[in-house]
Amino acid sequence: MKIHYFAGEEWEEKLAREKLADHDIVFHNGPLSDFPDLADPEAEALCVFIEAKIGEAEMARFPALKLIATRSTGFDHIDLAAAKPRGIAIANVPYYGENTVAEFTFALLLALSRRIIDADERVRAGAFSTTGLRGFDLAGKTLGVIGTGHIGAHVIRMAQGFSTKVLGYDAFPNAELAQKLGFSYVSLPELLAASDIVTIHVPYNEHTHHLLNRENIGTLKKGSFLINTARGAVIETAALIEALKSESLAGAALDVLEEEGDMADEAALLTAPHPRAEELAIALANHYLIEHPRVIVTPHVAFNTTEAVERILNTSIDNIRQFAAGSPANLVPQS
Ligand code: NAI
Repeated sequence: MKIHYFAGEEWEEKLAREKLADHDIVFHNGPLSDFPDLADPEAEALCVFIEAKIGEAEMARFPALKLIATRSTGFDHIDLAAAKPRGIAIANVPYYGENTVAEFTFALLLALSRRIIDADERVRAGAFSTTGLRGFDLAGKTLGVIGTGHIGAHVIRMAQGFSTKVLGYDAFPNAELAQKLGFSYVSLPELLAASDIVTIHVPYNEHTHHLLNRENIGTLKKGSFLINTARGAVIETAALIEALKSESLAGAALDVLEEEGDMADEAALLTAPHPRAEELAIALANHYLIEHPRVIVTPHVAFNTTEAVERILNTSIDNIRQFAAGSPANLVPQS
């Protein structure tokens, strides 16, 4: 197959060339969005990461395309409705980083609970004092986990080590898991009202778009904290800002932002011939969050450990090899 591989690091290129030696592979030093004029009538596969949206227009530039292999669990950057009529299959990496992302969730949680970033900034500024840096214990608090799948389950397992009580909410509750890990499923309103910390681990799709929104964000327990390592648009950004302003939320830690793709290239957003008012408003709101003293923002790095990235690459390469061999694996269902 002829494969276009986007935004890989040097070591990835070496490994991919070795393992896909039977294929014609073209490497690009950046995401697909960096190459707006690239078109290839012979390309049969694209290997991509999450930075670039792939819709109708992008697919049309590769008319022989059969496979998009994304080096991620989430596939919301790919327009499934546009792929289906073109006969393009999508392969993802369903299980690479459940412990990895759960560990990062706790890194964010502890950074919030113990004010670690503020404390570090304090010392760097030359003041070795504790004033104003008091945190809170996790032991005895209630952690609300929205989405108890691979990552959510690992978060719950880790919470046990901190003696934190867990409430879970999931569209498909797993009674066996709840029994094994000793937590209870509740409705979303119950979870929001009772949790001291809420952490989100659902995929982004039409059902989870703005799952936390203007209508329900005010029902969060007063003084609670919110963590999002899933996808930015699971939370309505304007609602999050309202909750911070009213102090119903004491703080938030976000590894993902709504329309985060625009953050990487704001010049493109500002100079686009027809910028969407909604996107500009979200970009402005994201800056508000980044500057906010009670918010921690990281640039979508929850997955980013040496071990997880190796697992992602190996699975992605296997996805391409198996597809080429006629026995596809890890295909995303296209209804
Ligand atoms: P998973 O598919 O194992 O678990 C998702 C859970 O959400 C499932 O239990 C499912 O039943 C539940 N769910 C789905 N729709 C729902 C709805 N409408 N309401 C309530 N629950 C719903 O997925 P996994 O591996 O735990 O990953 C979760 C998400 O985390 C991924 O889809 C991805 O977007 C994000 N992620 C973020 C990373 C990062 O670097 N920040 C890295 C890896 C994943």
